[in-house]
Amino acid sequence: MKTGLLGIESLDRAGIDAILTRARHFQKPGRYETLRHKLVVNLFFEASTRTRTSFEIAAKRLSADTISITASGSSVSKGESLVDTLNTLGAMRPQAIVMRHSASGAPHFLARHLNIPIINAGDGTHEHPTQALLDALTILDRRGTLEGLRVAIIGDIAHSRVARSNVHLLSRYGADIVLCGPAPLLPRELESLAPGISLTNDMAQAIQDADVIMMLRVQLERQHEVPMAAGEYFHFYGLRLEHLAQAKPDAIVMHPGPINRGRELSSEVADSQRSVILNQVENGIAVRMAVLEQVLQ
Ligand code: CP
Repeated sequence: MKTGLLGIESLDRAGIDAILTRARHFQKPGRYETLRHKLVVNLFFEASTRTRTSFEIAAKRLSADTISITASGSSVSKGESLVDTLNTLGAMRPQAIVMRHSASGAPHFLARHLNIPIINAGDGTHEHPTQALLDALTILDRRGTLEGLRVAIIGDIAHSRVARSNVHLLSRYGADIVLCGPAPLLPRELESLAPGISLTNDMAQAIQDADVIMMLRVQLERQHEVPMAAGEYFHFYGLRLEHLAQAKPDAIVMHPGPINRGRELSSEVADSQRSVILNQVENGIAVRMAVLEQVLQ
């Protein structure tokens, strides 16, 4: 059975390095014939702007045929099950399916039942592997290394697949990772997810001497409890210009997007020289080219 990319947890450092090296090559704009006559299906059961479009652009730049399907525009909306949907798409003989789903483990379940490589484009609160890879590429661009950095990941940790994939990736490189957020959004068990993790509810403590400040979106769609009001959240956990003085002088500010200005960070920070948010978006294409090439070749 051919393998896809289901998560960072199952990748070792050599596997991550191989993808990042190839992605650096793809940062130079160009078109390639590598995947001519191959078919990639993007199947998104949750909303997406960055991931869906960049997978589509990446496939086109490698000359693959690509089609994007959303759940609301498919027969899923008529009650077709996940397995039947995937079997139907599988009958069209794609060489890979890129899939986003709200249920953690959905792509892993399908990978066990279908003989088609599945690339996880985000599953519930579990993993978002290509996001962590593009984050790593962006850190490499700015800091030159992933080794031994102090990385503060701040916000809705509990519901964040981005945080989990980044923790798995950065811990492979000996990062000192501080997870920070309000107590209901910061599960204590995450401390044992990988080596080098500490937890705090104090944003100033998290940012102190950080090389990288990674802000997270508050995922209201996954919260069952009454969420903090935007203003209160911003007061305690929103990144503002004055916070940046506590980090390293050349610290970078990241956010996977979509950003909520005035909740997770101020516009002054989002639009500042320290922000690499749009560089992350740009690197998403190069990373997804590298992943598609590796999975489909
Ligand atoms: N970062 C991210 O996954 O963004 P989208 O939801 O827009 O794809």
